[in-house]
Parts: sequence; structure tokens; C-alpha cells
Amino acid sequence: MSTKTHDLYERRKRVLPITLGIFTPTSAESAHGATVIDADGRELIDFGGGIGVLNAGHCPAPVVKAIQEQAAKLIHTCFPVSIYEPYLELAEKLVELFPHHTGAEDSTKVMLTNSGAEAVENAIKIARQATGRQAIICFSGAFHGRSMMAMSLTSKTGLKTGCGPFAPEVYRIPFPYYNPKLHPIPEDVFCNFHLNELRKHFVTTVAASNVAAIIIEPVQGEGGFNVVPKAYLQGLREICNETGILLIIDEVQSGFGRTGKWAAYEHYGIKPDISTWAKSMGSGMPIGCVMAKGSIFDSINPGTIGGTYLGNPVCCAAALATIKYMEDININALGEKVGGIVRARFEKFQAQFPQLISEVRGLGAMLAFELSVGGDILKPDGDAGKKLVNFAAERGVILLSAGVNSNVIRTLTPLVIPEEQLNRGLDVIESGLKMLAE
Ligand SMILES: Cc1ncc(COP(=O)(O)O)c(C=O)c1O
Repeated sequence: MSTKTHDLYERRKRVLPITLGIFTPTSAESAHGATVIDADGRELIDFGGGIGVLNAGHCPAPVVKAIQEQAAKLIHTCFPVSIYEPYLELAEKLVELFPHHTGAEDSTKVMLTNSGAEAVENAIKIARQATGRQAIICFSGAFHGRSMMAMSLTSKTGLKTGCGPFAPEVYRIPFPYYNPKLHPIPEDVFCNFHLNELRKHFVTTVAASNVAAIIIEPVQGEGGFNVVPKAYLQGLREICNETGILLIIDEVQSGFGRTGKWAAYEHYGIKPDISTWAKSMGSGMPIGCVMAKGSIFDSINPGTIGGTYLGNPVCCAAALATIKYMEDININALGEKVGGIVRARFEKFQAQFPQLISEVRGLGAMLAFELSVGGDILKPDGDAGKKLVNFAAERGVILLSAGVNSNVIRTLTPLVIPEEQLNRGLDVIESGLKMLAE
């Protein structure tokens, strides 16, 4: 049967590279809240949120209004050419939400970007200049974007095939993935082991005095919603303090209410030296930022950061309206609520389908389950992940997989999703699991 969605995919084949990914076989013509109306007028429940971009929902009314009003007034100057207020207002708001400094002798500063990858690129440039060191330490399973430096930091080899040579002075260490089934030791012992491995790394691989920064996602997004254990991140903070290495926290996917807090690092009682943001910050408008202690930002060379579109006025207006709306609806409480419902349901799925689901994990509403052959965590089942995503799409749910083996089913639903709609989406996943179990 020919549908408009089908026709769109046919047209796509003719003019777009076939390698440009198709994550779910769906289309979209309009959207609101957690509902997408596809090209054929079909209503879809959005569990992907455009990959974690729509914490505040599709087209929130105050954001749409702010975009329209700003577009009618001023679309572009290039901020270094002519300064405008929305950029400053947004920077001030971000500093208020995410102060990186502690004492009065320092401050927190912001540079706006067009994307998460661009925020990461700039975070690395800033860290290198501020420390006068070159090496960067990153983690297995990490995803930091697709530009050249960000791709060098990204872990999944399948996303990098043929693109090298990659940026030098990038050192990857194992992500501290704690699973008591795999590591039958207490979590603090596990964390100490990994922190000691890092100390050894400074002796065997790269001296701490050559390391500019360690970059980490508090909850790995594309890597499969692996949560950094608390004692590990706290230990990492201490190691960075001891060695002068800057701690970069990548909040591109985990920020803005997704984990039940504005920043996922707030769960850990630590602060980064530098952080990167994007996705849900602008409800889908292309905007991100790098934040850093003022002493770090102000130590770098003039001319080394910038870009034509950074902090475009329309994107700034969208981000300001998004943050204000998030405050009004208490996005963090919604993150906790959605997280609670999804976790309870996923745990039930695991009890129902132990032969399929090897683990349920996540933080707040950044929740996932891992599909494994026979429920054995050592046997990731990417094929089952693909089947479940397609099953859900056929039944009107946009669902995304993640993980280096694409076997992790994750939820990034708009946090404004009504409970009844959330449960309907979860029912579809349950039917999909029944189909896989047959
Ligand atoms: C943690 C993290 N960092 C960086 C990026 C790159 O962001 P963008 O796609 O906006 O370049 C992503 C995108 O998924 C991400 O999840």
C-alpha cells in the first residue's frame, strides 16, 4: 500500500545519501506535546523526543510565540558584529542555573553554540588552552558528536568507519559500568578499582601533567544509558583537583530535567570545570553552549572560539522561552514522575521477560532496558532491538534504541507526556516484547 510516508522515503532515496541514518521508519507533519502527526495523518506517541531534544514537548506554545516574535524583530547580526540582549539574557539564565565556580573570586561564563558537537569541540579547545596541555581522556561507550574532534572522542567504531585519521592525543579508558551480576563486589570497591586504573593510566599511558581534560557523560546517552556510579564521579572530581586536569561534563543528552534535575551532575554533589549542553535547551531550535569557570574561559587566546551563527537571536529566544516554560511546569518534578512510571513498568517487563531483558537502568526519566539473547547480559541482541523499534513504529510509537550494540531500548519521551498516553506507549512496548518472546 502506498502511503505518503512511503513516498517520502522513496523520494529520500533519490536525493539523499543512503547512508544517512534511518532510526525509525516514521514521518512527521506536525506535533504537539508528546504526539506526532505523520504525513498520513496518523497519530504517533513520541518516545524518542527527536533524540532527547523535546523534554518540554513538541512546539510548546510560549516557545512558538517567542520564536515568532523574535523572527519578526531580528533574525541575525552575528553576535560579535552587533550585540543583542537575548544572547546576554540567556547566558545570565544559564549561569544562574549552572554555576561552575564556588568562591566569590571566580565566576561562570558561557559561549553559545549551534549544536552539542560544537559545544564539545569548543570545550576541548578551551581546556587545552587553559591548561597548556594536550591530552584528553574519554570513555568507552562515549558519544560526543560527529565533528572531527567529537568523533575522535566518540566510542562506537561503527559510527567512525573510514573517517580517520582521528584527532591525536585522545586516550580512551573503560567506562565504569557497574553491574553486580558481572562484578560481584560492592559498588565502592568497584569504583576504587576503576579510579586506581586511571591513576595507573597516568603512569603507563599518559602523564597526568599532559592531560588537559577528562570528558564524561554522567549518563551515557548513545552508549546505552549507562549511569556513572556516584563514588566514581566524585573520585574523578578529586583526581582532577589533585592533578590540575579539567573535568568536562557532557550534559547534552542528560540535561534540562531529563534525570529529574537541571543537570545530571547535581545527583553527584560535584561541579564541572567545563560543561557542554544542547538538545532540550531550545526545544528543537539549533542551540547549545559551553560553560566554564570564568578563570578558565578568560585565560584562552582571542580569536580561537566563535562562529557566524552562534547564539542566533531566534534560537536564544527559543531557549529562554523553553527554560522559562520548564520552570513554570516544574520540569524536574515531571522528569521524576515519568521516570518513576517508566522504571516500574520496565522492571515489570524484566520480571515478565527474563529471557529477553538482561537489565533495566537509568537515572530519572533517562531509562532503558537491555535486550540480550536468553537474558544473558554478555550476549547483546541488536536484532531484537531493531525488531522492537519497527514493531513499535508500526503500532504508532516512535521508539529509539541505543548502545554500542543497538540492543538497548531507551525512553526520551517529552516529559510533558500525559500519564495515560505514556501508559499506552508502554503497552505497545509490552506487546512488542510478547512478540519477541514467541
Ligand atoms: C552526550 C552527547 N554529546 C554530544 C552530542 C552531539 O550533539 P549534536 O548532535 O547536537 O551535535 C550528543 C548527541 O546525541 C550527545 O548525546
